[in-house]
This record gives sequence, C-alpha cells and structure tokens, in this order.
Amino acid sequence: MIDVARFIQGLPKAELHLHIEGSLEPELMFDLARRNRISLPFTSVEAVRAAYAFSNLQDFLDIYYKGAGVLMTEQDFQDLAMAYFRRVAADGCRHVELFFDPQTHTDRGLPFRIAIEGLLAGMAEAERRFGVSSSLILCFLRHLDEDAAFTTLRAAEPYLDRILGVGLDSSEVGHPPSKFARVFAAAGERGLKRVAHAGEEGPPAYVREALDLLHVDRIDHGNRALEDPALVARLVAEGMTLTVCPLSNLKLCVVDDLKAHPLKRMLDLGLKATINSDDPAYFGGYLGRNWTETAQALSLSRAELVTLAKNSFTGSFLPPDAVSDHLAGIDAYLSSNS
Ligand code: ADE
Ligand code: ZN
Repeated sequence: MIDVARFIQGLPKAELHLHIEGSLEPELMFDLARRNRISLPFTSVEAVRAAYAFSNLQDFLDIYYKGAGVLMTEQDFQDLAMAYFRRVAADGCRHVELFFDPQTHTDRGLPFRIAIEGLLAGMAEAERRFGVSSSLILCFLRHLDEDAAFTTLRAAEPYLDRILGVGLDSSEVGHPPSKFARVFAAAGERGLKRVAHAGEEGPPAYVREALDLLHVDRIDHGNRALEDPALVARLVAEGMTLTVCPLSNLKLCVVDDLKAHPLKRMLDLGLKATINSDDPAYFGGYLGRNWTETAQALSLSRAELVTLAKNSFTGSFLPPDAVSDHLAGIDAYLSSNS
C-alpha cells in the first residue's frame, strides 16, 4: 500500500477553481518587476511572503491586485501560466479550468488582448509539454459595476470561441449576485458557462441568488450554504458542483483550523465537492498540497479521495467522452495500486 501523498500524486485529478493571477509567486513578481522596470513596495521575496498574513478576503485582495500590476506583456502572462502548469502537472493534475480577471489589467491601461493572448499561448504550450488540458473562465470583478462587466463582455467578443465561461469574484459581501443578473444572462445567450463565487464570506442567500438569478452551472466555494439545510438539500438534488478551496479558507480565516474544515461534512451530506487551490502563491499550496493537507487533517479515506477526484472531472465542463476517459484513467490507476 503506497502512502497518502504518493496515492494522491498519482491520482488523476482536475482543478476547477484557480485564479491564474493568484499563482504569481514572489520570485516571478520580482523578475517581472525588473523586466518591466516597475518598482515594488517590497525589498525582498521574503518581505513579500511576510506580508501574506490575511484576516479576511479583502486583506488578500488588496495585495493580490497590487501584485498583478507587474504583468505587462503577453510574454508575462504566458510565463505566469507556464509556471503554474509546471507545478500542477507535477501534482498529477490533468485538466484545469482557470479564472482570469481582465478588469484588473484593463483598468490599468492594458488592452484586453494582452492578458488573454498570453494566457492562451501558455495554455497551448502546457498542453504540448505537460499533457495538461485547460480552458479559460473570464471573471467579472463584483466590486465594480454592471456597466464595467458589460464593457468587459464586449471586449471579450472576438475571443468567445476560446472562452469557456464567465465567473464572478472579488469582494463578496455587499456585492450580491443579483447585481450581475443581466450580464450573466447576456453571457448565457452567447453560449458561455456560468459560475460564481458564493458563500465564501457571503450568506447562504447569495448562493441562492447565484442559482436563481445567475443560473450558474457551478458554485465556487459554497461553504456557507451549510448554514441552510433546505439549500443543502437543493444543491444535492441538483448535483451542483462546489469548488472548495481548503488552504484558501484557512488563510482567509473562513475556517480556524483545517481539522474543522467542512469538506468531509459536505461529502457526508451528499454534496458534490471538489478540492482546489484558489490562489496558490498566496495561500501556501498548489493543488497537491491542498489535497494532502486536507486528507490528513480530515482523515479522508481512499474512497473519499476517489470520489473527490471523480467529482473534479464530472464537475468539469469537459465533453462527456473526455470525462469518461479521465474516469477510466482513475479506475486504471486504482487497479494498478490495489
Ligand atoms: N479573487 C481571487 N481569489 C479570490 C477569492 N478567493 N474570492 C474572491 N475573489 C477572488
Ligand atoms: Zn476564488
């Protein structure tokens, strides 16, 4: 019997909740700052890491948006994506549906095409070099207004064949999903998938709004749905995937201790939970570490780990034959390791 970390590493899995800007490691931040002649308010990589002590989501977002300011060229975005894919490929990740925040870049004067062209180039290179497939989800920043979201959707128009869906992120409390009902409807009319962060810090009512008003295909986080048994029953009945991010929840004080993380409870309730890293450069771990630390803290069984891996593919937006191939890959892995 191989140990848990090795078992997890070899288990085929997908990542469904990853902000590519949140994979910017301090070392790359310094390299890009130098390359682009941008000065940083930190003197060293260690000083950057020391600043990553957050009490809530907003503490993190303030630093995360500043960090993203070093990304200036297509090459920067390609390098960022490649650095991320190199790490998750080593974790046994086979497929990623990654978020990007175009408004973070267009608001500081970069044309929309810079971020997306660079990311698409990195994604294609990662598929060639590491065999990790991926697709892009464009997130609207919810602290900005509906008009800004529509402007972003219009800027994305020439790329809609290369964008899988839209998402909703940034400061949750005070910015309910209802604020974006019309832009999500417009995205749906264009054939885009829809996901939204809900119930990370916001109340269960925001999860309901994401379902009823945004017509989401997946809920990002969803932790606070557990406060509402009728909502849990609905999420179970609808087979709604939750993209849960354990180390993020710990770093942003959504939970006090990984041992108290609700992931196991979610599985016990029949919720379709998955494990993801959110912003790995800021929260202390990529996909593999999220899996191993959570498995250890919650004493997850092999059967639960397999359920989580299968959920990551059945909860993805891959076509059914690709999902079947990945599920068969999991079964083959299990038979060679029983
Ligand atoms: N943007 C990047 N990470 C985020 C998170 N965890 N919640 C909301 N917005 C984000
Ligand atoms: Zn997130």
